[in-house]
Amino acid sequence: MKEVLSTVKSCSQIAQNVYSLTVTLPESAGEIKGGQFLNIATGDNSRLLKRPFGIVKAEGLDITVCFQVKGEGTVALSKAKQGDKLSVLLPLGNGFNLPENAKNIVVLGGGVGIFPLIPVIATNPDKNFYSYIGFRNDKCVCLLDEFNKSKKLTVVTDDGSYGQKDNAVNAYFKDKQSVKADMIIACGPPVMLRALKAKLKEENDSTPCLVSLEERMGCGIGACLVCVCKKSDGNNARVCKDGPVFDINEVEL
Ligand SMILES: Cc1cc2nc3c(=O)[nH]c(=O)nc-3n(C[C@H](O)[C@H](O)[C@H](O)COP(=O)(O)OP(=O)(O)OC[C@H]3O[C@@H](n4cnc5c(N)ncnc54)[C@H](O)[C@@H]3O)c2cc1C
Ligand code: FES
Repeated sequence: MKEVLSTVKSCSQIAQNVYSLTVTLPESAGEIKGGQFLNIATGDNSRLLKRPFGIVKAEGLDITVCFQVKGEGTVALSKAKQGDKLSVLLPLGNGFNLPENAKNIVVLGGGVGIFPLIPVIATNPDKNFYSYIGFRNDKCVCLLDEFNKSKKLTVVTDDGSYGQKDNAVNAYFKDKQSVKADMIIACGPPVMLRALKAKLKEENDSTPCLVSLEERMGCGIGACLVCVCKKSDGNNARVCKDGPVFDINEVEL
């Protein structure tokens, strides 16, 4: 993990309220695993805390993240211009570990939760990915080319304006018999991850399942304890350092 001063290569809107930002690092950050994230300065010096985003692509020294504009930090970041200098801390967190013998991987993504799943598909060409991704509506749909690398892709929306009117978890469980999943990986809002956990329990389904959690963060390196979540055994875990990827049965959702 290192902190470097990156240079903005491009920043453009890719869907309603969603931007893709590519920065160039001055030196290699080493190997980056799908599901790892970075902390990046917003470009507004009155906001010192960096913001965490899943790494979507790492190509040479170019690193891409995609983000939804939420509050003042992401508003500032959406105005980044080519040549701007932004401090970045990366790579952070553990990322998704796919066991060698897991061939059929179900990918469940909701909203901005789709972003950290993209590099997992891109960097594991030997696996069969079955992706189910959900968006609020057709204006939010983006980055389908990345998910088209899956063996099967199902896109759903909350209002049915693109694909079926459904959510990613339901869409997968309707298909479950035909997929024969060795593993499920998921990232999305808490309501989606809770629904996934409940559905697996209801169906007595013990398919190994990894989820990437999102918590408000401060330092991103395990020091401030802002991001603590509850584990099922009653202990605490730091989402930034012990996660953000956990076994679904390991954490309270
Ligand atoms: C590991 C991880 C990966 C993430 N990946 C993505 C991604 O790929 N794309 C994306 O759009 N969003 C992602 N998020 C959420 C993103 O970090 C927040 O939306 C963003 O920090 C909001 O900043 P803001 O200044 O606009 O919002 P404000 O509400 O003004 O932020 C105020 C403070 O709260 C923190 N904060 C607010 N919401 C969140 C949140 N949901 N998670 C963590 N910190 C938060 C901010 O970092 C800031 O310190 C990720 C969060 C985590 C923890
Ligand atoms: S953000 Fe500081 S410990 Fe996780």
